[in-house]
Amino acid sequence: MCGIVGYIGCSEAAPVLLKGLKNLEYRGYDSVGMATVSDSLKVFRGVGKIEKATENLDLRTLQGRVGIGHTRWATHGDVSEKNAHPHLDCKKRIAIVHNGIIENYKDLRDRLVEKGHEFKSNTDSEVIAHLIEDNMDDAMSFEEACITSFKELDGSYAVLAVLRDDQKIVAARKDSPLVIGLGEGELYFASDVSALIEWTKDVVYLQNHDVVVATAEGDMSFYNLIEEQEVKRRRDTVGWDAEQARKGEFEHFMLKEISEQAETVSRAILQDDEVIERIIDEVRRAKGVFFVGCGSSYHACLAGSYLFSKVAGVHVNLVLASEFENYEHFLTDETLVFAVSQSGETADVLDAVKAAKRRGSKVIAVTNVVGSSLMRAGDMMLLMNSGPEICVLSTKTYTSQVVLMAFLAYALAGKRDDCTKSIRNLYMDIFNLTSKTMREHLKGLAALLVSSEHIFMIGRGLQYATALEAALKVKEVSYIHTEAFAGGELKHGPLALIERGTPVFIFVGRNNREKVLSNAHEVKARGGVLIGISEQDEEPFDMWIKVPECGNFNPIIQAIPMQVLAYELAVQRGLDPDKPRNLAKCVTVL
Ligand code: M6R
Repeated sequence: MCGIVGYIGCSEAAPVLLKGLKNLEYRGYDSVGMATVSDSLKVFRGVGKIEKATENLDLRTLQGRVGIGHTRWATHGDVSEKNAHPHLDCKKRIAIVHNGIIENYKDLRDRLVEKGHEFKSNTDSEVIAHLIEDNMDDAMSFEEACITSFKELDGSYAVLAVLRDDQKIVAARKDSPLVIGLGEGELYFASDVSALIEWTKDVVYLQNHDVVVATAEGDMSFYNLIEEQEVKRRRDTVGWDAEQARKGEFEHFMLKEISEQAETVSRAILQDDEVIERIIDEVRRAKGVFFVGCGSSYHACLAGSYLFSKVAGVHVNLVLASEFENYEHFLTDETLVFAVSQSGETADVLDAVKAAKRRGSKVIAVTNVVGSSLMRAGDMMLLMNSGPEICVLSTKTYTSQVVLMAFLAYALAGKRDDCTKSIRNLYMDIFNLTSKTMREHLKGLAALLVSSEHIFMIGRGLQYATALEAALKVKEVSYIHTEAFAGGELKHGPLALIERGTPVFIFVGRNNREKVLSNAHEVKARGGVLIGISEQDEEPFDMWIKVPECGNFNPIIQAIPMQVLAYELAVQRGLDPDKPRNLAKCVTVL
């Protein structure tokens, strides 16, 4: 969704804001804006990706050592300069940036319009600036007006507000992430830590309903809107380092992150024995286990549900987080919910967690981001240990999620060491699958597919989960229509889509080779062009991607060449693989 940044300290704010916004651009890239405070309020807004929107911006026009910035992913209001943040009040004294959705903005807006406020944008966010102004008109200080206004907001928000004549930032969060970086006499605000780790690793994660007032001297006071009193917040240190959040020698984050998987897959099993034991006890005790996630995380859950069944004989209910409410009546205080989310900020997942909590169910948070909302909401947590993932597409975090699911399944079956050994053995295979030679092979294949209108993918069992994930990767980054089907479902409808020359990928596992090859023959008979992903070349294949057979670990091994292929397709189509159109890394709206 949107990303917000703020700076207050002894340096000029604008260059810091611009850098922070670039670091956060993966959260949204429809438009960008900044406001700085000096003798007046200086404001810049531009449409498009940051590079383009700011190409003619002279940072000297944005003077001031206090500033706020925003990169937008449009929800309310079209993509235009007037809808870009920051938003101002009528007198142009107050500027705000906002990530989230104000659900009662229409009521608030109508009330404010009636009182004479003039709105310039079609966004829900602008209402915050006018509300603060209105409260200040009632003789409140800036801080009091902010607190009173935040109490009136329904929905979700991470907000930064500045006032023209004041060297302060007032920040608040509810159901949208916000973290403060602590420098030497300076403070940084950002939607997530990857935006600020190049300046500091010392942070404070704001908790829900927190408001903080930060001064130019580096002082901060925290107030909680629910507790209605001043509160203290702990200082944390971020485990990631700045290098991990840079592209380095790679042209795109996507390729860098794909290439890190030999390491990240090995790191995913570095878990605390005691925590694993406790989670396993919970699974054994539970009367009903749910896996909940969205997008790639959901696909990892699907692979996980097969592994729990095959390896541990444990039944799991698999639910898309956005559909979870339909199962709420099954939840009791004996239910265990695994909520899986790379970012730990996906609104649908957090909503499912709320539902689980309402029913007294236990929640295991599986996430990559320390300090995320999901991590705080869970009763227990498992970290993916993948390091920052900047590309909008999940690649290394997907394989880490599958590893974690496999690890739990094997641990439940009392075979944890077998899993550890198998994962260690994958190192060289993953290294080879991400090598230059493999990339060249896949580049050639991408060149043959680059003009395809439709691509289909089929698999059975664990390979079905991989087919779904591979199809998501290809479609979201190359914009080629790509769909996955369970092999057995082909004859129930999708076969009608196969024409002469339609590319169809076949994911083969040794355990269901015959069955899926029989599906391949059905496709071949209708003129489809077959691309096999398997340990050996098979008679019906027209093209072949060679991968080692890894049994229960096939979902890791077979996903990787498909990530590379998706990347190559995007590059050959002249697209930016790190920032696909209409998407954002972190989906913080329902
Ligand atoms: O942060 P999360 O794991 O909760 O994100 C879930 C999905 O939004 C995410 O996997 C999305 O589908 C990606 N674009 C997949 O590449």
